[in-house]
Amino acid sequence: MFQRFISKQLARPSGLFGRLFTARWLEKANTEMNALTLDRLALNADDRLIEIGFGSGYLLEQILTGNSCAFAAGVEISNDMVKRVFRRLRESINAGRAEVRFGDIENIPYKDAEFSKLCSVNTLYFWKSPSAALAECRRVLKDGGMIALCFNSKSDLAAWPGHVHQFTLYDLAEVEEMLTDAGFCEIEVASGNDPAQGLFYCVTGVVA
Ligand SMILES: C[S@@+](CC[C@H](N)C(=O)[O-])C[C@H]1O[C@@H](n2cnc3c(N)ncnc32)[C@H](O)[C@@H]1O
Repeated sequence: MFQRFISKQLARPSGLFGRLFTARWLEKANTEMNALTLDRLALNADDRLIEIGFGSGYLLEQILTGNSCAFAAGVEISNDMVKRVFRRLRESINAGRAEVRFGDIENIPYKDAEFSKLCSVNTLYFWKSPSAALAECRRVLKDGGMIALCFNSKSDLAAWPGHVHQFTLYDLAEVEEMLTDAGFCEIEVASGNDPAQGLFYCVTGVVA
């Protein structure tokens, strides 16, 4: 029962528990995954970045604080996280450097080719259709744009009993194949390992 509840919170943090506990826990537990993703994105001053499933907004804040790119947008399926992160990034949003919107990765609320980089950390387990999600990611990226997906290893996640409730687990080879099938090339893999998350990967690809 408790594991089902936690699993549901991870898939879509919501309510008082989501705002007070899940968002803060995600921020601590996923620090290393977000750091690896930021490193792999290799942002430059001209980049327009979009993060899908930003949760607490920690990574977006890191990016904006570091003045790492020209513009950073976020899309989230949890309205409670959108509201929370709107407050968190208020200064950058008011300055026109950032934007957060409610939305689903399978229907990203932006026009074609609006971004040069896209990232998503710890969300792919919750996508209903990976092919639809990746087609959308590709659509909003311009030619030569880059995607970075960071996720836990299948074996480590499978060891947590709660995964059965909301998660679909993928191994590294499946994710690489999904990206290739969606039209990304130059697939590269970086990995990390920390006490909070175990083994994780950040797979990058470029719009072919
Ligand atoms: C496990 S949390 C990870 C949050 C953050 N990226 C991190 O690593 O700390 C997953 C997040 O993805 C969001 N999410 C899940 N499915 C989504 C979808 N289809 N489209 C957009 N966001 C989604 C959830 O609401 C949640 O905030």
